[in-house]
Amino acid sequence: MHMLKFRMRYWILQGEIWTLEVEGRGYIAHKLIAKSLTEFVREERRTVKVLDIGVGTGLVGVELQKLGFHTIDGLDPSQPMLEKARAKHVYTNLFCQYFTAGPTPGLDKDSYDVIISAGSLIRGHLPTDCFIEAARIVRPGGIICMLTRTEGSGSFNESGYQDQFRTVIKQLEEEKKLEEIKWEQLNYNSSSNGIMMAYRVLQ
Ligand SMILES: C[S@@+](CC[C@H](N)C(=O)[O-])C[C@H]1O[C@@H](n2cnc3c(N)ncnc32)[C@H](O)[C@@H]1O
Repeated sequence: MHMLKFRMRYWILQGEIWTLEVEGRGYIAHKLIAKSLTEFVREERRTVKVLDIGVGTGLVGVELQKLGFHTIDGLDPSQPMLEKARAKHVYTNLFCQYFTAGPTPGLDKDSYDVIISAGSLIRGHLPTDCFIEAARIVRPGGIICMLTRTEGSGSFNESGYQDQFRTVIKQLEEEKKLEEIKWEQLNYNSSSNGIMMAYRVLQ
């Protein structure tokens, strides 16, 4: 019980810190990732089924909806964040879960056309092997598109995180489960760069 209370306080605090970060540091990754996705999705956007991982307060979903995506689910381990996302009325289903390399309870193989994520592919958030599960959930021909911070403390480039991530990707490419579409340097916020990566799921 004590642990549960502690965890809830932690996530409420994280939510407040995140809101300050977004407002104070000119965060734009949510806008840029949504725009990037439109390069890779050729189908009728309204019916494309998207899962936003590390949904946070729902900023990515709002941008996706502006661009014509209407079937959007979200996943985040923080209930307070999810409540803020829910209040934006752009998500169909919201799952309170950690995303890892292992099967996500309730999410079937090939159940989404697209996985999108902004700001979560860093140590302490998504594990470096999470594309194993992303490739399972996205149907063959579907897209995984993520944008993450490459500068500043705890970024994608620090503590061997990127190297470990690339080792897993190389393995998935060798197994013909994924193919790279694009890596591109984009802004993350007003003081840091980020990297946008897009992959097509093959099987
Ligand atoms: C930097 S925030 C980004 C939020 C949102 N994507 C945005 O652009 O505003 C990172 C989010 O990832 C979530 N997160 C952390 N670890 C996670 C995991 N293993 N699986 C899914 N989400 C996770 C956090 O709770 C937080 O909401």
